[in-house]
Amino acid sequence: MKLKYLSHSAFQITTENGKVILIDPFLDGNPNSPVKSKDVKADYIVVTHAHGDHLGDAFNIAKHSKTTFICVNELANYCKEKGFNAHNMHIGGQHSFDFGTVKFTIAHHGSQTPDNKYAGEPAGVILSIEGKNIYHTGDTGLFYDMKLIGEMNPIDYMLLPIGDNFTMGITDAVKAVELANPKVCIPMHYNTFPVIEADPEEFKQKIEAAGQKCYVMKFGEEIII
Ligand code: NI
Ligand code: MN
Repeated sequence: MKLKYLSHSAFQITTENGKVILIDPFLDGNPNSPVKSKDVKADYIVVTHAHGDHLGDAFNIAKHSKTTFICVNELANYCKEKGFNAHNMHIGGQHSFDFGTVKFTIAHHGSQTPDNKYAGEPAGVILSIEGKNIYHTGDTGLFYDMKLIGEMNPIDYMLLPIGDNFTMGITDAVKAVELANPKVCIPMHYNTFPVIEADPEEFKQKIEAAGQKCYVMKFGEEIII
C-alpha cells in the first residue's frame, strides 16, 4: 500500500486493491497541504475528532466522492445529519471493511464540531491493512496505556503529534514511542501554525538516541509501506 503525508495530521492511504482512505483531511485552510479538497477523492474518511483541523475538508471531499465516514458514534451521527454516509464505531471496537480493519483507541483531548456541537470522545485509530498496523494517535497528550495499545496491537507505523500546545510536544512524544514501541514512528501535527512549531529532525534525533526508528515524511511525500 501507499502512505502519503498531506501535512498536519492528514494522511492518504491507497491500498493494493485501489481503495483510498483519508485520515483527518485538513487541506484548504492548511498552508502546508500539497493538495486542495477539490482534487482529492476518497472511498473512506476516518476522522479522529471534530476539531476544524481534523474534520477539515472532509465534507467537501465527500460531496464529490462516494465516501463513507468512519468515526466514533456521535461524530458519525453528525456526518449523517449533514447528509453523508457514515459507519458508527466507538473506542475499543474493531470492524472489518473491504480494505482492512479499523479499531478506535482512547485519546486525551477534546472534540467539538466547527458549529460548536458535541461530537463524542476524541480518538486515535489503528488501521490494519495488508498485514500492517498503522496507529494514528489523533490529537492527544501522553498516556501510559499507549504501552497496552502497542502490546495488544503490535504497531508497524505510529503517526503521532509533536507540535506541543494542543498535543504532546517532542519530549512526551519520545516517551509515547518508547511505550507503544512501533517499528517506525512518523511525526505529525507540527509547523502548521506558529503555536505548534517544532523541529521534526530534533524529534528524530531523540527517537534514535532512545534506540527507536523515525521517518520524517515531507509534506506531500508518498511512500510504499
Ligand atoms: Ni484537536
Ligand atoms: Mn489538531
